[in-house]
Amino acid sequence: MRLRSEHLRPVLLMLVTLVNGSACIARAQSDSIVLTGADRRPQMSLNGEWHAIPDQYGTGIYDFHNHERKDGWFLNQHFKPGGPPMDYDFATAPTLKVPGDWNTQRPELFWYEGPMWYEKDFHYDLKPGTKIFLRIGAANYKSIFWINGKKVCEHEGGFTAFACDITAALKPDTNFIVAMVDNTRRDDGVPTAQTDWFNYGGLTREVSLITVPGAFIDQYDLHLSRDSKDTIEGWVHVEGGQGGDKVSVSIGETGAKTEATLKADGVADIEMKAPGLKLWSPESPKLYPVAIKAGSDSVNELMGFRTIEVKGTEILLNGKPIFLRGVSIHAEAPYRTGRAWSEKDAETLLGWAKQLGCNFARLAHYPHDENMLRAADKLGILIWSENPVYWAVEFDNLAVYDKARRQLDEEINTSRDHASIILWSMANETPVNDARTKFISSLATEARKLDPTRLITAALLVRTQGTTKIVDDPLGQYLDVIGTNEYTGWYEGDLSTIDKTTWQIAYDKPQIMSEFGGGAKAGKHTPANSFFTEEYQAELYKHQFGMLSKIPQLRGMSPWCLMDFRSPRRMLSGIQDDFNRKGLVSDQGVKKQAFAVLQKAYLSKAVGKAQ
Ligand code: GCU
Repeated sequence: MRLRSEHLRPVLLMLVTLVNGSACIARAQSDSIVLTGADRRPQMSLNGEWHAIPDQYGTGIYDFHNHERKDGWFLNQHFKPGGPPMDYDFATAPTLKVPGDWNTQRPELFWYEGPMWYEKDFHYDLKPGTKIFLRIGAANYKSIFWINGKKVCEHEGGFTAFACDITAALKPDTNFIVAMVDNTRRDDGVPTAQTDWFNYGGLTREVSLITVPGAFIDQYDLHLSRDSKDTIEGWVHVEGGQGGDKVSVSIGETGAKTEATLKADGVADIEMKAPGLKLWSPESPKLYPVAIKAGSDSVNELMGFRTIEVKGTEILLNGKPIFLRGVSIHAEAPYRTGRAWSEKDAETLLGWAKQLGCNFARLAHYPHDENMLRAADKLGILIWSENPVYWAVEFDNLAVYDKARRQLDEEINTSRDHASIILWSMANETPVNDARTKFISSLATEARKLDPTRLITAALLVRTQGTTKIVDDPLGQYLDVIGTNEYTGWYEGDLSTIDKTTWQIAYDKPQIMSEFGGGAKAGKHTPANSFFTEEYQAELYKHQFGMLSKIPQLRGMSPWCLMDFRSPRRMLSGIQDDFNRKGLVSDQGVKKQAFAVLQKAYLSKAVGKAQ
């Protein structure tokens, strides 16, 4: 049974608040919902120029004694010459492009961390009997939205999509939307204040309005049965649907179609034969038009069908063992830098991955935008998607668990329609302790309930004893696939250390080397073979392949990483200049020598068991 988080959330949060001792009833954390495949629906885009005002002191919400104001900036009032004094007026404020982080749009906003107010006027023809949802691709990190001065929802989490019902707040002609997005890093956040990537703030992915009928398809899962290669199974949920209502699913080009009946919980179970279905794979990324209908609502999807499972230490795609030749990718925009969000960004990044000979990509360390997932579906690149439980979140804090669970729910329920996604990663490099293992194993249980069709993994730290790498993190028992990060030859030892390194893995499960690599400044060649030269990075990869080929249960790798990405931890001037330089490609698209080394290894299948 799928847990529908929006029903649990306010209750759980109240419990959490009571548990934490502050007896006040917590304000509902968010009344947003999650729409599967929303990008496949007709929508009115709100992308473009929005007026924007930075508000470092929260003046737009709090008065000088820190009480919430009733006349906050969400009213979008205007200063009239000769009129009463005001501290803001969106109409005369400069604009920011949406989508887009604010940091790379104005030099004075580069290092800004705090609340940013956005405002945009819009027209909307409201049709009777319909509902209008404001759909936000991502708002980093905490956000609140008002329509015509009325709060419509709030959200926490910088990398997952959400939708807010704004029907009651709309007016027949001119409307205005105000958003407050606060990218302040928080110790009780997910991720916390500590990351190795730049905290790009703002409405960083697309914003649109979606019209649906009173009863509409909000979530669905259609996948190939693991037991029968011509059977598609799953479910469709209709929000506002009544038991007995009908749902139909048809798969273009196959003649396959079925009709199913909603149960009292609004779910219709789907099972349908699709003889002669071409399975989706990297070699043949076949996508079918899929029409899902319920009453007057419909979603026209584009879906691939495949199975992914583990058998002993093998990963089986469509029943056959596969080796995942991959690369790790941050959502950093090539050339312009900043948070990636567009089709062009996705095509450039995954285009480089294809040139490398990849059939796999680890989208680190947070859910990427749907343009990236659509491109992966089309190009045939298998995807590791990751919930940003990164490094040391507050594992003993129930409210933090609820945030991590909610982001996992939003990630899975938004993107379960992508054949390319095969792995849900629960975390990256978290410290080994009981609270953490309970926290993340609970998330793994939740993920399996939400989606039993994919594999669960996490990127684990490994212990080093002399020249032996030991993989015995207790979290491994809860994973289907063991991800491991190691930097032998970079943070540990030199190239000769790599050659002497052996591995001991406590689990009889498939292993993916989810990170290895080293930095290089593109164009740096001296001192010869020294750290940060292209030659050293290239040699490191060659030595790594020698070590990796000795791990019998290695079933994939995603070296760190495809492209240089911005990080405030990397401030070595002249070499890093606030970029992590472990990319195989510079942020300006310059391929380093190691790119060709990895490409040769992948295209010749010199790494990994040749499949
Ligand atoms: C870590 C971490 C990455 C980081 C990388 C590095 O393994 O997972 O997020 O960028 O190492 O140090 O470059």
